[in-house]
Amino acid sequence: MPDRYDLPADFRWGVSTAAHQIEGAVDEDGRGPSVWDTFAARPGAVRDGHTGAVACDHYHRWPEDIALLQGLGVDGYRFSVAWPRVQPTGAGLVNPAGLAFYDRLVDALLAAGITPLPTLFHWDLPQALEDAGGWLNRDTAYRFAEYTAIVADRLGDRVPAWITLNEPFVHMVYGHALGIHAPGRALMLDALPAAHHQLLAHGLAATVLHEGGLDVMIANNLTPVWPASTDPADLAAAQAYDALHNRLFTDPILLGRYPDLTAFGVAPDLHGAVRPGDLDLIAATPLTGLGVNYYNPTRIAAPTDPALPFTLLDIPEAPAHTAFGWPVLPEGLHELLLHLRDIYPDTLPPITITENGCSTPEPTDDPARISYLATHLDALATAVTEGIDVRGYYTWTLLDNYEWAEGYHQRFGLVHVDFTTQRRTPRASYAWYRDLIAVHRNCR
Ligand code: NOJ
Repeated sequence: MPDRYDLPADFRWGVSTAAHQIEGAVDEDGRGPSVWDTFAARPGAVRDGHTGAVACDHYHRWPEDIALLQGLGVDGYRFSVAWPRVQPTGAGLVNPAGLAFYDRLVDALLAAGITPLPTLFHWDLPQALEDAGGWLNRDTAYRFAEYTAIVADRLGDRVPAWITLNEPFVHMVYGHALGIHAPGRALMLDALPAAHHQLLAHGLAATVLHEGGLDVMIANNLTPVWPASTDPADLAAAQAYDALHNRLFTDPILLGRYPDLTAFGVAPDLHGAVRPGDLDLIAATPLTGLGVNYYNPTRIAAPTDPALPFTLLDIPEAPAHTAFGWPVLPEGLHELLLHLRDIYPDTLPPITITENGCSTPEPTDDPARISYLATHLDALATAVTEGIDVRGYYTWTLLDNYEWAEGYHQRFGLVHVDFTTQRRTPRASYAWYRDLIAVHRNCR
């Protein structure tokens, strides 16, 4: 049996997934195309041309997947709602079959004793909205608020807490600055309006949810930034990177202002995107919880390329790396949690770890995943004993799935998926997590 961590009795154990990574069925029951369908069809965009057309076929196999969740004994399940299933063109017309899918899913989760935690946007923007400018168009934020109202109106009687956006940083940088995720725009710093419009969408949706008596969260991927040295140039670069990666998406919500981006040569209005009143709106609804997706720290050195005020470095001395090549450094999670309390002393809400996990090359016997999870939970529990209010831990992820630009090559699941047969085989880490949850639930 795994050891018990020193965590509060009501600590919530969970698992996270995202619609486009597991559902498949992209043409079924009236779903409209999303930016990921379009992007993945571009030659060379995704490794080996993989698409999310079938993924884990969760759209048809969800009862089996809920049984897997029930077998784990999780308290909560974080999934995302596919906007193009609910509103095929992202505006106006609602697709009843799409809403009905999530309605059934929620009922089945509740019947299994699992609290649903939906994310409203996990990167699958309806293509019709992209064609109208996507997140570079301010109007998308207002469409998101309408979509939020539609989904919350249908499920809010049974779903207490909601996550507005998943990792707006990654969606802005990978999707709009570098072009390696959908929608594949490579605008570099001209992508910044996509940050502001996502935050505006968060603020508008948060108002809708709050008025409906629902709890509001956001899931930000945060990273402790490690300067390469104490050289002032490295320290300044680290500060600039921290502003872009971490503070850009958290300061407006918790402090009502943008961080200083002058190192990027960017004015506080983010290329004219910020209008009077926007920041008040973004901060108006206090978060009930801050969702933190943590994978690894980031090492930063002084710039070598004049286009950006920092250089990203590897952390080769980390004791291990995941199959993705990410350094395994659980102390980064501990550091991050303490740092959040330091920088947001008055406004930091309770934290939930909304993602943490690793890809491994291991078939079903996966000691590296167990070690990753165990050491990160240890780091988390240490932060909790030091007074950080962390309410839950949702590991990434239940099933091997469609890992965006990596296609099916990175396997993050507690459950192995054979993508030819769709056979699910729980890994050793599944049994380990199940036993760990049982140890903690037995102490309630
Ligand atoms: C964060 C994203 O939210 C999720 O979609 C992705 O699969 C994991 N990180 C792993 O890269």
